[in-house]
Amino acid sequence: MDSKKENLWKVKYLLDIKKIDKQHQYFFSICSKIASLCDMSRSGKQVRIGQFLVTIFELRSYAFKHFATEESLLVKYNYPNLFKHIEVHDMYLEKIHEFTNRIKKYHEHIQAPVDQDFIIEVEAISDFALSWWSNHILENDKEYAEFVKKVGRAKAKKEHFSEGSPE
Ligand SMILES: [Fe+2]
Ligand SMILES: [Fe+2]
Repeated sequence: MDSKKENLWKVKYLLDIKKIDKQHQYFFSICSKIASLCDMSRSGKQVRIGQFLVTIFELRSYAFKHFATEESLLVKYNYPNLFKHIEVHDMYLEKIHEFTNRIKKYHEHIQAPVDQDFIIEVEAISDFALSWWSNHILENDKEYAEFVKKVGRAKAKKEHFSEGSPE
């Protein structure tokens, strides 16, 4: 992983759905935080394993929050690919679970400074998360966003015309 202290979020990730965009942005800030911790420890600063774990776990816990927001939106709009989309979310959680299993052994050393092996594991998690969020937003989320906006526009148009129509 290159040095990624800068904001990893890009304008191309915008769906024009405010709440969802804000949550997406937050995932990239988690990855930036992880990259900064890696950089700090590489440059000789002492970073404890516990500091990393708090941030890594956010890749999982914030996903619960985000998936709940997104899935309820998809139900509300009766999105045709709802279950397919949920499956893809579940695959992310399974993969994150696999990665966190690999760093379980560090539990005994939460107060210890990180070592090179730990950094390698952490970078693998972060790289996975970064490319997963990027691909998922651009391929899957953009697709439902188009649908939701189309339905929203049609609904607004219908309401607009029915308002003025005779009883
Ligand atoms: Fe999604
Ligand atoms: Fe999303």
